[in-house]
Parts: sequence; C-alpha cells; structure tokens
Amino acid sequence: MTMSFRARILGAAAGGGLPQWNCGCPNCNLARAGDIPAQTQSSLAVTADGATWAILNASPDIREQLACAPSLHPSGLRELPLASVLVTNGDIDHVAGLLTLREMQAFTLFATPGIHEVLDANPIFDALNRSVVDRAAIALDTPFELVPGLEATLFAVPGKVPLYMEAGDVQTDLVGEQTVGVELRSGDTRVYYIPGCAMLSDRLAERLVGADAVFFDGTLWRDDEMRRAGLGEKTGKRMGHMSMSGADGSIAAFAGLTIGQKVFVHMNNTNPVLRPDSDEREEAEAAGWIIGQDGMEITA
Ligand code: MLT
Ligand code: MN
Ligand code: ZN
Repeated sequence: MTMSFRARILGAAAGGGLPQWNCGCPNCNLARAGDIPAQTQSSLAVTADGATWAILNASPDIREQLACAPSLHPSGLRELPLASVLVTNGDIDHVAGLLTLREMQAFTLFATPGIHEVLDANPIFDALNRSVVDRAAIALDTPFELVPGLEATLFAVPGKVPLYMEAGDVQTDLVGEQTVGVELRSGDTRVYYIPGCAMLSDRLAERLVGADAVFFDGTLWRDDEMRRAGLGEKTGKRMGHMSMSGADGSIAAFAGLTIGQKVFVHMNNTNPVLRPDSDEREEAEAAGWIIGQDGMEITA
C-alpha cells in the first residue's frame, strides 16, 4: 500500500469556537450572520494509508465535525475508519469530545502519563469503557505507531496546566507532560501538530526545520487582543499562547525556518485573520502562512 500523509482540519477555532455562544464581538456577530465562515473547535484528523485515521484532540464539536467528514463515517454496522485518538493537553476544547465517543466503540486513547492522570482523576471519562477503549500512556520523545504507516512522537512544548486546574501562581511556560506537540512521520514525510505553544524556543525551532508541514498555535493575532476588544483582562501569554504578530510572535519566529506548509490552527474568535478580507489575514498569508479552516485538507 502506498503511504501519503493526509490531514483534515476538523476544527480550526480555539476553545469557544466561532461564533462563541456568549460572545458579541464583531467576528462572532459576522459568523452568526453568515458573513464570514464559522469555525468549530480545535481538532485535526490524520491518516497515512487513506483508510485508517487518528483524531488529534477531541473537541466538544466532534459530533458535527465527524458528520461533515465522509472519510470518517462508519464503513459497517459498528465499523469505523478511526483507530485512535490522541490528546495534546487536558484543556476542555481538546478532551470534552471524548464524551461523545462513548457507545462502546473501540479505539486507543493516546496521551502522556501526565494528561492521562488528569483524565483518570475525572470519573466522567469512564464513560469511555476501559474494556474497549485502551488508554495508552506514551512517554515524551518515544516514537509509537499512531495508525498504520504513521509514527508519532510526543514532545514537550512550553505551556500550562488546563484552565480548570489552575491554582496559585500559574507557570505559563511550563515544559513537561501537560502540553505537548506531535511529530508525525510517514516514510520521508515529517509533519508537526502544535495547537498550543507559549513560545518558540531555539530547540523547538531546530526541530521544526525541514518539516513538510507544521500546524501551529494561531490563537491570537496580538497578545492584548481580548482586552482591546473589551472582553476581559486575559492576554495570550497568560493563556500559554504566543501570538501571531509582533517581534516575539510566531510569524516572526518562523520567518527564517524552511518549512513546506505552515498552517495556523486553534484561532480564537477575536483573531482578525478569521475575516477573509482582513489586513491581518493578508499579512499572514504574505508571510507564507495558510489560515486553517474547517474541512480544509492538507497533503504532504
Ligand atoms: C486554551 O487553549 O487556552 C484553552 O483551551 C482555554 C480554555 O480552556 O477555554
Ligand atoms: Mn484551547
Ligand atoms: Zn467573539
């Protein structure tokens, strides 16, 4: 069988989605009116053989996302082309969809031991019956087979614990098992999925050089975007996300790196790049970035 990497963006938005249920910001209103495309919450489906898929992050919107993705529909009574689900942190936008995947469906749930601890501590996830859903703990920097023909390696990226577990002083650039990126290899093809990242360290930049594709944290355009929009005091840095623009932003940080396709995912609903006619979208695209959107497929 010939292998070729294929990814489908199931959801391009960050937690909350576009529109977010309680948000009256200009982007959310435009999306509600149908004037810009709505986007569901953060998830990517990947395959190497075109037949068996893994889902990276299970968003609260997974039911609709799967309904719109013919390649992930059942092939028999209870047969699915889905073999595994991997979560990159314990955030609600990345794990709440696991609850939708109950119904005694067998798959392997991959995460670091640290993220499994979070899931294990919450009995609601026992809705995924352990006799059919194998919870596989994967140590950092240890390659494993995610789906046939696709090897994955989890690596620590700067981030923080899930919002609902924050206590006391929160370290927002913690490097450990709480927030990971995923390296995907199929033959000579090398792809990265990093939906949350507080900063691009030299080490991480070196790792990404030469990749065929990188799906990267596109949460905010600018660090104080939510405050400027009158939506609260939280900055991107406080949320553990580096912004796209600015001297310390991802567009600048990636500028010198040779990478095949650079794709922003996990965009917050305030991000101006979600408006197809915005200057910010034009600037990001001029810098070689693709703005991810629901249903977009990337091959490498
Ligand atoms: C994030 O990416 O910062 C989180 O998903 C925020 C949240 O839990 O809503
Ligand atoms: Mn998130
Ligand atoms: Zn909004």
